[in-house]
Amino acid sequence: MLLQVLGTAAGGGIPQWNCACPGCSGARVHPERRRRHASLAVRTDEGRWYLVNATPDIGDQIEAHPALHPGPGARQTPIAGVVLTDAELDHTLGLARLREADGLEILATAPVRRALTDRLRLDAVLGPYTTLTWRDLPCHGGTSGPAGRGPRISAVPVSAKRPRYAADAPEDDAWVVALRLYEPATGKSAVYAPAVAVWSDALHQAAAEADCVIVDGTFWDDDEPRRTGISSRTATGMGHLPIDGPGGTAGILASLSARCFYTHLNNTNPLVDPAAAQHKQLARLGVEVADDEMVIEL
Ligand code: MLT
Ligand code: MN
Ligand code: ZN
Repeated sequence: MLLQVLGTAAGGGIPQWNCACPGCSGARVHPERRRRHASLAVRTDEGRWYLVNATPDIGDQIEAHPALHPGPGARQTPIAGVVLTDAELDHTLGLARLREADGLEILATAPVRRALTDRLRLDAVLGPYTTLTWRDLPCHGGTSGPAGRGPRISAVPVSAKRPRYAADAPEDDAWVVALRLYEPATGKSAVYAPAVAVWSDALHQAAAEADCVIVDGTFWDDDEPRRTGISSRTATGMGHLPIDGPGGTAGILASLSARCFYTHLNNTNPLVDPAAAQHKQLARLGVEVADDEMVIEL
């Protein structure tokens, strides 16, 4: 299984266009600190790729990776489809960028699909440009994936948090999921979870069995959104378990045998500064921060 990281930032990216916080200002001065919106490309055995989430940076993310470039036919793309972990705008706005496709396969849970079709009206808006083919992302047992060989994909619910534009939509435990990518040919698996509100037993089991775990590193500590003035809520209140402190994920990741990475870093997270002391704290736990160009082969 081959995973190509395409971006590692939370909504807004780093730098965020309207933000002069130390993280964003630092990335303007030091371009190597820039991070695109969190996303991943997963290669199937046929040399085709699924994108995990479709971010506002999707055009640049495809151009930055030759394996995702079109060819040899004029309009032949190796991108087979998009798998969605949730319906948040930072993970779905890029779908409109893909409207030049002949057709687009989208794997999503039922509430995510309904949000995109009923609230964002993607079927109606994109229908005149391309054909969207929706496939169920199986949540409780079962897997989905390309025909033939290649990783099987299943979902583990990790949050009932609805996007703000669908705040009054019905409750459902599958609004936000972790993906489990399992390669039958090798028995290797990876877990990708850019937003985690609850570290459930099911998530723990998937992570404990995995060879690679890439999870929500939005906020360093629970009070960070309030302290930095970006929200009146805590990290947990915003649907993101913090890395450090009580209930934080760093200790959990340190207990796993998998290679563990953080992604979806908010621009307020001290980890966006490569010189931050917090990097040493993670290194002592054997946990890494993913970077935008990282390739993970399992
Ligand atoms: C999140 O990760 O919590 C969402 O993307 C936040 C947002 O875009 O409002
Ligand atoms: Mn987000
Ligand atoms: Zn900022």
